[in-house]
Amino acid sequence: MNDIKLLFEPRSVAVVGASKDPKKIGHTVVKNILASGYKGKVYPINPAGGDVLGLRAYTDINAIEDDVDMVCTTIPAKFVFDSVKSCADRGVKYNVIITSGFSEIGDIETERKITDYSLSRGMRVVGPNVFGVYSAESHMDATFGPGNILPGSVAIITQSGALGLAMIGKTKVENIGLSSIVSIGNKCDVDEADLLAYLTEQERTKVILMYIEGIKDGPRFIDAVKKATRKKPVVVIKSGRSERGAVAAASHTGSLAGSDEIIDAILKQNGVIRAENIQEAFNWSKYLGNSPPPTGDQAVIITNGGGIGVMATDACEKYEIELYDDGKKLKEMFGPVTPSFGSTKNPIDITGGAASAEYNSALGVALDSKEIGASMALYCETSTFLAADLEKVLEENYNTYLQRRKPLLFAIVGGEDIENAIVKLGRKNVPVYGDVYEAVSCLGKLYWYNRYLRYHSELYEDAQIPVAAITEICKNAIKQDRYFLLAHEAQQIMDLVGIPVPKSFVARNLDEAISCAEKCGYPVVMKIVSKDIIHKSDAGGVALNLEDKGEIIDAYQAIMQSCRAYNPEANIEGVEIAEMLKKDVETIIGARRDNTFGPIIMFGLGGIYVEVMKDVAFRSLPISRREIMNMIKETRSYPLLLGARGEDPKDMDSVVAIIIKLGALISKCTVIADIEINPLMVYEQGEGSKAVDVRILLAKDGVKQ
Ligand code: COA
Repeated sequence: MNDIKLLFEPRSVAVVGASKDPKKIGHTVVKNILASGYKGKVYPINPAGGDVLGLRAYTDINAIEDDVDMVCTTIPAKFVFDSVKSCADRGVKYNVIITSGFSEIGDIETERKITDYSLSRGMRVVGPNVFGVYSAESHMDATFGPGNILPGSVAIITQSGALGLAMIGKTKVENIGLSSIVSIGNKCDVDEADLLAYLTEQERTKVILMYIEGIKDGPRFIDAVKKATRKKPVVVIKSGRSERGAVAAASHTGSLAGSDEIIDAILKQNGVIRAENIQEAFNWSKYLGNSPPPTGDQAVIITNGGGIGVMATDACEKYEIELYDDGKKLKEMFGPVTPSFGSTKNPIDITGGAASAEYNSALGVALDSKEIGASMALYCETSTFLAADLEKVLEENYNTYLQRRKPLLFAIVGGEDIENAIVKLGRKNVPVYGDVYEAVSCLGKLYWYNRYLRYHSELYEDAQIPVAAITEICKNAIKQDRYFLLAHEAQQIMDLVGIPVPKSFVARNLDEAISCAEKCGYPVVMKIVSKDIIHKSDAGGVALNLEDKGEIIDAYQAIMQSCRAYNPEANIEGVEIAEMLKKDVETIIGARRDNTFGPIIMFGLGGIYVEVMKDVAFRSLPISRREIMNMIKETRSYPLLLGARGEDPKDMDSVVAIIIKLGALISKCTVIADIEINPLMVYEQGEGSKAVDVRILLAKDGVKQ
């Protein structure tokens, strides 16, 4: 496999389809390569020979004597395979196929031929159906984009070419410098994971922004993205939120696990910041690329208006920013720089009369404070503090903060002068926004990413699983052409894995019933066992909540009497003695093998309303203990586990232990496709949890062990 570096830093580039005609893509690509200052060799290729943009045009790749690292293919689809063949035979390392008209319009066959031939000769293919590659490292704009790309530190990988071309223009307007931009189009060979491998290691790239529509190889993608986020922020726009995965709705986990829910969870789990739209993605990429990390967990808001301060406080809650709230210390720090009619409660309200001096003093206090990890300054336009002065104050304070490596950002609201100030300061990379939520979201993502860096753990949880014994149970079901397990089989597996299920025994006489009840522990349920009595309650064959031996004796006699009266012919085998389950918090734990991402786990609020409430969270496996807790905390019903309405907290440790066991079970027993416990009854701390109902579905493709 060729080193991916040669795609971004080729020593020579040939353009197949280079044309004299300025309207043609093959012309623009050569023009952009030359205009961007590429220092390597450039070889236009055109069957007519002659020259293109002052360079000799070669009639074909074999006419070039030197080695060619990269080729850009810009000829009609029907000629591409032959051209690819000659390039691959000639030893070209990367072929960037700009041409459209392959799998995206249904011609999978030709695309496969291109990929197979190229790879058999060691040539890697980018595309087809792409706009090309820009790399600031080699001053090379091998795209048919608008040219004049601003070099910088944000790398963009995009699956949509058109959107990528539009982003080239937009990044320039927003003063976002690019370290590279690549489109991956149909991804017949090179994919996000290959590109991430280079961009993760590249010094110049400080932030990676990706636009993704679909992921082909989930585990490869996860691995690449995980490595990337350890080193730099990765912002992803993943479209197709509404799309539901083609999953069988045989289980709740299956029907709730739409592809987007899973991708969303996996991105989060691996430190990726997911943006809803281009503006968010640009704001976050730019801010995270330029800002130092927070110096502490808590932030401060300084404002000249109460309303905007309240809005910012709400936004901080949404974006999980903790505000410093030690009232006494805040008063000590900000009292001297706040008018008596202002407020030193965070947000610090320096009031509508505040101008340069007041902002400078308050921001200075926040900068010097060890307790405050980041500052936000808000401004509503006033006649006492004009835009021209404001611009200066913001820029100076930002630079001072930058020197002292503490984050600072601004939201300013007002008329034309303010809007102009935002544009002007934006060009200087001063983080100023016209909306409070925009500003807060940037700081929120900075905090989120830095928390991820601090707390992520690769200490994955695992559990011992008796794979052979479990597979045997499953194989027996498959022998009967059954791809689901019966209740007692599922219970056997729970026993083998060590997940508690309600205890139950069959007793053939009263003495046995008493000893079974003692084994179960009171209170117990007693039910008649007879294949001739199906409707047990109708026959008087059920007694609930039996508290002691005396009640067992009474219930046994009553059940026998009424069942014999109900059906004198019935063959009575005995009674079932089962633990009388107390009701408590009903949760659901599911684990399944996702087609793209492999084993995944789900936790949420259980019971009969699972699909109505949809209060579930997903993660991919393997998983760390911290990530298990994050998954649990993500559900809206998490407070129930903490003990709502004065109840004691629930046994979280037992839930975590069961999640670990179920995760290990689905990961190690490939014969199991889907497993779900619903409800998992969670009791008070120290009292554990019980898997009341367990459903296990088997893999149709058989037993792999
Ligand atoms: N080797 C080298 N040059 C060749 C060739 C070959 N085997 N076959 C043809 N050429 C030359 C042609 O002679 C022509 O040069 P000329 O202008 O000097 O005659 C040049 O290559 C281009 O061929 P042409 O037939 O004029 O095609 P085109 O420029 O109109 O279109 C594509 C070619 C690739 C641009 C077009 O097929 C296409 O796919 N467009 C969509 C691209 C796109 O949107 N990609 C995705 C972006 S996100």
